[in-house]
Amino acid sequence: MSIIDDIKKLKKEKNAVILAHCYQNAEIDEVADFVGDSLYLSRCANKTDADIIVFAGVYFMAETAKILSPNKKVLLPKKDVGCFMANTINLEKIKEFKAKNPNIPVVCYVNSTAEVKAECDICCTSANAVNVVKKLGCEKVLFVPDMNLGTYVNSQLENIDVISYSGYCPVHAEITTEQIKKAREQYPNAKILAHPECKMEVLNLVDYIGSTTGILNYVNKSTHKDFVIVTEKGVVDRLKRDYKDKNINLIQDNVICPDMKKIHLEDIYNSLKDENYEIKVDEKIAQKAIKTIEKMIKIDG
Ligand code: 13P
Ligand code: SF4
Repeated sequence: MSIIDDIKKLKKEKNAVILAHCYQNAEIDEVADFVGDSLYLSRCANKTDADIIVFAGVYFMAETAKILSPNKKVLLPKKDVGCFMANTINLEKIKEFKAKNPNIPVVCYVNSTAEVKAECDICCTSANAVNVVKKLGCEKVLFVPDMNLGTYVNSQLENIDVISYSGYCPVHAEITTEQIKKAREQYPNAKILAHPECKMEVLNLVDYIGSTTGILNYVNKSTHKDFVIVTEKGVVDRLKRDYKDKNINLIQDNVICPDMKKIHLEDIYNSLKDENYEIKVDEKIAQKAIKTIEKMIKIDG
């Protein structure tokens, strides 16, 4: 029996589901029940009636699943898979940021820890950030932790002032305007699609800005043949696999999230077998954090 068969067997025996983010190694899709972006996966975690959720993603994603499904066992297949961006802010820093900007509602990108979410008013993902901020209906909002997503949201909403914290994702923030210009020259007929965690000066040069799912849907619906993808390599791996008739290019070979690539099939197998590594969230923090996530799910429909 192959490792894929072993995982499927264990999944059935233990009534488990496997959720995988699109930045994961593509081999994980062979055993995953749901593959998608963070918004889609948090909705799956909210709805599943499995006893165990194995989250092939980074820590904050598994933590979000645990907050949404407190009675289920949520497992992260590797111990130390974090998110650089989520770690740019903590309880002390968010309190400081709020104190400097008092009485302004705080919108929290889902790429954050539970204790940070617990200090915020509402959550968002890259797929719904503009909609969430718009529907809040306030003149001013604080946005944590991603300054690039916050700046992008600000650019999309004329009458709302979005004040961003200084966090960022190095995988996306290191992409430069020079790389985009070079890609335009190299692939003159290509549509260039970028994730809003890139810098605004980069986003200003592309044809489409969207979350992981937004980018996947764009390619799916487009009659174009050539694309340059400005986000993590996992998205490109899946597009190349699924659209053999299209030319899909990654903006630069090194657009790779090292933490997202730490999980392999063997880790999924061991995780299911030994029920490791279980995610635990302090109950008081979870009770506050869930309100921000549920508010997002409600407001975003
Ligand atoms: P999505 O919200 O598009 O899933 O992105 C998550 C992420 O970590 C981006 O770097
Ligand atoms: Fe975090 Fe960036 Fe990796 Fe996404 S790509 S998980 S934001 S470090």
